[in-house]
Amino acid sequence: MPQYRLSRPSCRAEWDVYHRIRQDVLLESRKYAMEHPDEEDEPHHYPLLLWRDNDPIGTIRIDKLDDTAAALRLVAIDPVLQGQGHGRALLTEAERFARDLGCAKAVVYSTTEAIGYYEAGGFTEDDWAECEIAGVAQMVKPLG
Ligand SMILES: CC(C)(COP(=O)(O)OP(=O)(O)OC[C@H]1O[C@@H](n2cnc3c(N)ncnc32)[C@H](O)[C@@H]1OP(=O)(O)O)[C@@H](O)C(=O)NCCC(=O)NCCS
Repeated sequence: MPQYRLSRPSCRAEWDVYHRIRQDVLLESRKYAMEHPDEEDEPHHYPLLLWRDNDPIGTIRIDKLDDTAAALRLVAIDPVLQGQGHGRALLTEAERFARDLGCAKAVVYSTTEAIGYYEAGGFTEDDWAECEIAGVAQMVKPLG
């Protein structure tokens, strides 16, 4: 069985992999990276690489919104490795990370295409933010 873990990129090479996976997968992240060049230093934001054994295969950023909720953002699995169960492992590790931050629920803005992915992970559609974005679903999962 492969071992998965999340860890903050710890050197320039790991940051390069983090940005490469995001840029390969998430078009929005190209714009986002330009608008947030100092992401690496923002408090309460946790940019993380997903490792499978010794290989970095995915990314996520976990934002602690307040004492109860963590937002999962920029969720991405390396395109050549999608559809093999790694995304499910990424959610499991992200939930563990959010619980360790003291959060009672995980929340996401999901694209229409990714709703099934989050549903498979136990998320349900529920409004958690006042700001509604067209074409984006708000989803929530309590962290038991
Ligand atoms: C979404 C993403 C992270 C899923 O990762 P993955 O490794 O392909 O997912 P998995 O193979 O672990 O699938 C986990 C479960 O989600 C389901 N699933 C995955 N992608 C899905 C999709 N687009 N629509 C519906 N269900 C999906 C799988 O069928 C599986 O369900 P099961 O365990 O009941 O069989 C990955 O496809 C990705 O990086 N996509 C592009 C970026 C993106 O859309 N991010 C989310 C933005 S909000």
